[in-house]
Amino acid sequence: MDQELTSRLEALKIKYSASGQELLDFLDGLLEADYITYWDYIRLDSLLSLQQPRTPHHDESIFIIYHQITELYFKLCLHELRFIVKNEKIDLESFNEGIRRCNRYFESLEQSFSIMVDGMKRDQFLKFRMSLIPASGFQSAQYRMIELAIARLNDLVHLEKREEYSNEKNISTLLDNIYWKKGATMESSGEKTLTLLQFESKYGNEFKSQAEEYQGNTVSDQAKSLLKNGLLTDELKNSLRNLDQHINVLWPLQHYRSAVRYLAKQSLDVRATGGTNWQKYLPPKFQKRIFFPFLWSEKEKNEWGKSFYDSYIKEY
Ligand code: HEM
Repeated sequence: MDQELTSRLEALKIKYSASGQELLDFLDGLLEADYITYWDYIRLDSLLSLQQPRTPHHDESIFIIYHQITELYFKLCLHELRFIVKNEKIDLESFNEGIRRCNRYFESLEQSFSIMVDGMKRDQFLKFRMSLIPASGFQSAQYRMIELAIARLNDLVHLEKREEYSNEKNISTLLDNIYWKKGATMESSGEKTLTLLQFESKYGNEFKSQAEEYQGNTVSDQAKSLLKNGLLTDELKNSLRNLDQHINVLWPLQHYRSAVRYLAKQSLDVRATGGTNWQKYLPPKFQKRIFFPFLWSEKEKNEWGKSFYDSYIKEY
């Protein structure tokens, strides 16, 4: 038998015997097994069965499929972030590579958002969206998980209370004051929207346990400690600043463009399915979410999202 084959068989024998298994049994299994196919490997039939429009409107498929595509990118991003957060001894190169990957995923989402902004007819959209109330992208749990993995919870508190809670340690207090809960609470009555109530009831416990698990070890905590110890390289600093821009300014602005295109009217704006005051809630310059405040100057923070916001709005 040729030398290469013998050495592989030897290696396999060692691998299996280490766990008390017989190589011969595995080889018998291999003889019987079918070749794997593309469609089985990527679970194509399951994947393509997940697009189920609720109305006969042609454009609704674009809406569903593009949301699903986005959730898959979010999943890729979380895959990288969880690896960083759970791996305390990660080396700088792997840390940076994980962040660069997330930046690429978000870049791709920003570039493809025209599928939403330009790709659907406004009147068709307004017809099928009524059958989706009160569902909203606001209820994307992965989007919130991404934030919880990256940012200190204190930096996700809504702007009015952020300063006050900058040193708060109690996770429940911080979660109660997170920016998106405030965004989906009616100012006049203090009541939560149905969209928020549903969201909290489905994911509230999961958010709390993820926040507890990551407290002190988020991407932001790790970056701050590298900075403090003089270990934050310019390269990593740039990647982190890019991440902040992608997730907190550039993607939100592309998303906001779709809300402007489909929901803004000359006289009376169309109500959002999730019931937020979206014109005041969605623009980055109002939310001012900043994952790494210690990596930006005061001027940059004060002008967060502003110049981009102004130029995007002028287009409409
Ligand atoms: C026609 C396209 C879209 C419109 C008009 C739209 C509209 C809105 C509005 C008005 C909100 C505020 C919450 C509410 O009151 O409903 C919102 C939130 C949100 N949407 Fe969309 N959206 C669109 C597409 C998408 C897509 C493709 C995604 C991808 C998953 C998405 C994800 C989100 C997320 C994550 C939020 C929460 C943002 C935050 O809390 O800052 N949206 N959307």
